[in-house]
Amino acid sequence: MKLNWSDVTPEAVFLNRRAFLAGAGAVAAAPALAAADKPNSFEDITNYNNFYEFGTGKTDPAKNAGALTTTPWAVQIDGLVDRPGSWSVADLAPDSAVQERLYRLRCVEAWSMVIPWMGVPLADVLSRAGVQPGAKFVAFETLLRPEEMKGQRRATLDWPYREGLRLDEAMHPLTLLATGLYGKPLPNQNGAPIRLVVPWKYGFKSIKSIVRITLTDRQPVSTWQQMQPSEYGFYANVNPTVDHPRWSQATERRIGAGLFGGRQETLMFNGYADQVASLYAGMDLARDY
Ligand code: MTE
Repeated sequence: MKLNWSDVTPEAVFLNRRAFLAGAGAVAAAPALAAADKPNSFEDITNYNNFYEFGTGKTDPAKNAGALTTTPWAVQIDGLVDRPGSWSVADLAPDSAVQERLYRLRCVEAWSMVIPWMGVPLADVLSRAGVQPGAKFVAFETLLRPEEMKGQRRATLDWPYREGLRLDEAMHPLTLLATGLYGKPLPNQNGAPIRLVVPWKYGFKSIKSIVRITLTDRQPVSTWQQMQPSEYGFYANVNPTVDHPRWSQATERRIGAGLFGGRQETLMFNGYADQVASLYAGMDLARDY
């Protein structure tokens, strides 16, 4: 099931996107109608969020994330790389390299959305930093700034928020460093100015407002895994056959579908099995959840 952004993007937004990309000279012709999924509205995507740094309620990020200063911003790339250093967002995702990707997002809490992201493949960034042969994993960290992130003043999670991927997952062409959505720069509540998007994994893997990317030979421990290892694993691949200990993962509630929209079946690897199942060949996905 291939999704194309322009299939269903309202014209105003599409024109906006053209303006956003104009400097890049990267405006492609609109692909033919083929999508099975419709993107959620900008309203839904930016008002129903998980970003515990700004509170645990779904509308807290939209209310509180405006306080975060996102310029200037530096991302440290370190560990097992040839060229460690500090990168600006423009270095990481120059306009000329930004692509649009319409991806499903499936939260471990069993709700989902479809989001038209803008961003660059993480693989391109890592290749530019020069991954050394000993590197096996990539670790990510969110900004620690309790003055501006009021949720960090409480010990809801062990701050800063941390995530990790196996190197082959990080290098997979679907894995994106997103800097925008709906043709606009990323709103703060969605992880400005730069966040990870790994569409075949539960949403908590897609860490927001990244300040550090570390190449390492050790499997990183992610924040949710550390909080509750029996409920949140390192892999966190979307899997309708492996339930969360406290709820089923077989179905999901699509945000924006309305009160009578009903639930829909959750797809293996969130519908990306064709592209990613081979990464996990031979693994017991009930054990490595
Ligand atoms: N990143 C940080 N730093 N803090 C968070 O609380 N929540 C995660 C993920 N990234 C989170 C985070 C979860 S649980 C989900 S479902 C997605 O962000 C939600 O992304 P969205 O709000 O852009 O839809």
